[in-house]
Amino acid sequence: MPFLSATLARVKPSPTIAMNTRSQELKAEGKDVIGLAAGEPDFDTPDNIKAAGVAAIEAGKTKYTAPDGIPELKKAVCAKFARENGLSYEPSQVSVSSGGKQILYNALMATLNPGDEVVIPAPYWVSYPDMVLLAGGTPVVVEAGIETGFKLTPEALDAAITDKTKWFIFNSPSNPTGAGYTRDELKALTDVLMKHPQVWVMTDDMYEHLVFDDFTFCTPAEVEPALYDRTLTCNGVSKAYAMTGWRIGYAAGPVEIINAMRKIQSQSTTNPCTISQWAAVEALNGTQDFLAPNRALFQRRRDLVVEGLNACPGITCPVPEGAFYVYPSIAGCIGKTTTSGKTIATDEDFCLALLEESGVAVVFGAAFGLSPHFRVSYATDEATLADACARIRSFCESLT
Ligand SMILES: Cc1ncc(COP(=O)(O)O)c(C=O)c1O
Repeated sequence: MPFLSATLARVKPSPTIAMNTRSQELKAEGKDVIGLAAGEPDFDTPDNIKAAGVAAIEAGKTKYTAPDGIPELKKAVCAKFARENGLSYEPSQVSVSSGGKQILYNALMATLNPGDEVVIPAPYWVSYPDMVLLAGGTPVVVEAGIETGFKLTPEALDAAITDKTKWFIFNSPSNPTGAGYTRDELKALTDVLMKHPQVWVMTDDMYEHLVFDDFTFCTPAEVEPALYDRTLTCNGVSKAYAMTGWRIGYAAGPVEIINAMRKIQSQSTTNPCTISQWAAVEALNGTQDFLAPNRALFQRRRDLVVEGLNACPGITCPVPEGAFYVYPSIAGCIGKTTTSGKTIATDEDFCLALLEESGVAVVFGAAFGLSPHFRVSYATDEATLADACARIRSFCESLT
């Protein structure tokens, strides 16, 4: 009898491990490596939020809570959805977890049976397909390439849906592309979903507050109120409030699924960290003043990186609407040879050679289900980004 589970065998190891391991080895050897692979803001959690965490500790708010969140946080989540998204939810429709990731995982665990299909546009956030597999479902990956701005077309969505489709996972602005759907683009997708009443929407709105220029964020249940009863609206404090380590995510949706998610959570992690929940209450209820300057800062970085990458021979970098990622194509570098004689056949080859020869760590597109691309996380200072772009440019110029 095998010791490890059959479920584990369905999941692939993280494709980014090779890159991270090599990057760490190079750093340990004393090489100057610029890391543009991490998916988290480079600035600290705002002081008012940190203070709320400290106050919670000092007030003895350090015990177990209700499995899916303290009433104060559920109330703050309801107020956030009403204020920012025009969505009306009761606290009984809200679930709080240890990060946005656990929210998505609980929802999939609570709903998927063998044979159930989940439509996932590619490029996707690395965890979606594997979470579906862990929960016993079948990911159905549909390409949304550079020619459509990395956005799924209504025709492609319609073609991917079968009578076995249970969920459509939607993520805008997206990790890894930064692509954000306009209201009209999203409405075209929700129109398709209206034709398929068996399909629910899991919308991952994690990058809601990181949008640029005049782009306006929107979410499926807001754009198509008739989908309210089959939408799980997922969000979290990790990215907008620089709280990745606090581990708080939340979702709102129909009571039946929220109760099912609570059951899973109560038998796994019990409840999200009590102290972090109090800090998240402050994040959602307190001042939002730092969001606008952060957006402006990220927009400047985006512009710098897009310009820098488009100056590299063989690279084409679209301008994303949000998040803190760009997802350039390296189609023009495929088939070329590096100065050390390595042939670039794939985006993984490109990224490994870029790391070895120029000391820039990025994540190759195959990890996100769409090649030949790579993902740059520009959540770092402008001088470092300029240095990274200059190194990528010399690397590309050296290819023959
Ligand atoms: C699209 C997307 N969803 C969810 C998450 C998970 O967020 P959390 O750190 O709150 O679990 C991430 C984190 O990288 C993400 O990029």
